[in-house]
Amino acid sequence: MQNLIDKAKKEHSLTKSEIVKILKDNSVNDYLFKSADEVRKKFKGDEVYLRALIEFSNICRCNCCYCGIRRDNKNIEHYRLEKDEIIKLANFAIQSGYKTIVLQSGEDLFFKANYLAEIIKEIKKSDVAITLSIGERTFEEYKILKEAGADRFLLRIETTDENLYKKMHPNMDFANRKRCLFDLKKLGFETGTGSLIGLPGQTLESLAEDILFYKELDADMIGIGPLIVHPETPLKDEKNGDLILAIKVLALTRLLLPDINIPATTAMETLHPQGRIMALQAGANVIMPNITFEKCKKNYEIYPNKASVNYSKLQTDLENIGRKISNRKGYRKDFLK
Ligand code: 5AD
Repeated sequence: MQNLIDKAKKEHSLTKSEIVKILKDNSVNDYLFKSADEVRKKFKGDEVYLRALIEFSNICRCNCCYCGIRRDNKNIEHYRLEKDEIIKLANFAIQSGYKTIVLQSGEDLFFKANYLAEIIKEIKKSDVAITLSIGERTFEEYKILKEAGADRFLLRIETTDENLYKKMHPNMDFANRKRCLFDLKKLGFETGTGSLIGLPGQTLESLAEDILFYKELDADMIGIGPLIVHPETPLKDEKNGDLILAIKVLALTRLLLPDINIPATTAMETLHPQGRIMALQAGANVIMPNITFEKCKKNYEIYPNKASVNYSKLQTDLENIGRKISNRKGYRKDFLK
């Protein structure tokens, strides 16, 4: 098993059955995490990129079975930030030193591409990168957003198991999701995707397929998080995802896509007080602190008890593991420049 991991570390490639073999075997976890950490160090260095997350609307037309802001959850107070509020929050983040602003929302079509373009142009007056995470749109809409100056886009595939995808995403189309991702790549966005770990019925084989899909897309960023059960969703009686399995998928992703950006996700920290640090020592190199207004944060409840980032604690924690906060935008190729 160690030979297999060594091979992946050198060649950045594994077959589906090899990935499954590693996922199945928990006796090699430490070796896997250490190897992914070494690849991260070689290709990304010790700097950790911070991305300031703004959750600007919790209104969503989708009805994903795991998500707390799904359309059928009537038990939430809906909000939509005004253009000026979004720009104000972004400027606050920029003044605080953030070099990337992530604008995230439910799939809220109130925010037409042209309207978002105005917001993007305003924020881009500062020297900052913008990531969008607003869901599925047409090629033409994505094009408007790119031309307005957006740099990156996050859209998780969630799972590449098409049957499971259908079950988890009522009235959504797997082919369209893939179309979105390839359109985003084509348009020149740094494109991020990723998976939920621990969906009911998800197999290790499908997780291996997920990783191979990241490679096929040549994803620039991968966000991986364990499922955290939300009581107001159809999955309310299911178990949370397995943090260690999620970190294994993260580590394997680092071995196979050595130079991409990989966040230590909030869902990992939510399941374990050291979740973020564990991920940072198993291949991750990005953290996404949430800077949304407090009154909105509590209504952006994708899952319960979302962990937050304490900046000075983060600084100390990073120092303790030989890492430091970067003051750069952190594009995929930044380190190589
Ligand atoms: N637990 C963990 N992650 C979730 N997401 C949505 N709902 C949950 C949940 N209950 C993730 C999805 C989505 C991202 C923004 O949040 O993967 O892409």
